[in-house]
Amino acid sequence: MDDHRLTIVSNIQVLREEIADLRAQKKTVALVPTMGALHEGHLSLIDFAKEHADQVVCSIYVNPKQFAPGEDLDAYPRPLIDDIRALEGKLTDFVFTPTDDEMYPDGFSTTISVSGVTSPLCGKSRPDHFDGVATVVTKLLMMVQPDIAIFGEKDYQQLLVIRRFVRDLNIPIEILGAPIVRSDDGLALSSRNQYLSEDERKTAPLLHQTLLQLADDIKKGRGDLSTLIKTSSDKLTKAGFEVDYLEIRDAKSLAPIIEIYEDQTARLFVAAKLGTTRLIDNVTV
Ligand code: PAF
Repeated sequence: MDDHRLTIVSNIQVLREEIADLRAQKKTVALVPTMGALHEGHLSLIDFAKEHADQVVCSIYVNPKQFAPGEDLDAYPRPLIDDIRALEGKLTDFVFTPTDDEMYPDGFSTTISVSGVTSPLCGKSRPDHFDGVATVVTKLLMMVQPDIAIFGEKDYQQLLVIRRFVRDLNIPIEILGAPIVRSDDGLALSSRNQYLSEDERKTAPLLHQTLLQLADDIKKGRGDLSTLIKTSSDKLTKAGFEVDYLEIRDAKSLAPIIEIYEDQTARLFVAAKLGTTRLIDNVTV
């Protein structure tokens, strides 16, 4: 019989006591921060965490600070019961579901703001987004104090931002990136995919296909970078996407790349809207 126990905690003090017990037993702890509406991509992060630590804490918190006015905070899916069921199936040990009051008590006035890596790509169209992410992730790391924390590479810029402030603030937690999980047709899994209409869902895989084709064209030198990128961007626009950006950047610093040199770690990044749904993706070159 399966005697696995999933403990659901929303109070920080209770969570701290549970973690202190684990520490006393010399158990290592991994944190997987999420905003819920869990899909196979999130569940793969739990599997990844289980491979690296004895106990896994999955946090579910829809962080209002990372949504700008007019974004989808109110519409963001919150299927908590389904999420808990999915986590039970994955042998998660703790689900941490802090309330808004617990996370941002009255008078909360601190922001973690990272410069540099937050400026390009999503930082341009969502200027306060990464401050919201950095602030909540710092709080989650301080609350749980895990040995490691896992973030998906789909939000690649977010992963770099988190690595940067963890290093800058000497937070003694290892940050691990986990590979993107995709549908069979290549679309990167995202909680926001459920906003897509049937027709949009059929068009959506073109985003990844275009990135792959572009990466191949670049590797094989089928033209100069800016022309290849412009052609791909036009292809997406023609198919009905509203392209926010399609760029090639250094995979470590996000510095722009004009020409690829040998040994450079380049990555392609795209964000585009299909109808009202904003999709992002990235591939290595
Ligand atoms: O990637 C997400 O789901 C969120 O940005 C995170 C890291 C859980 C912070 O709210």
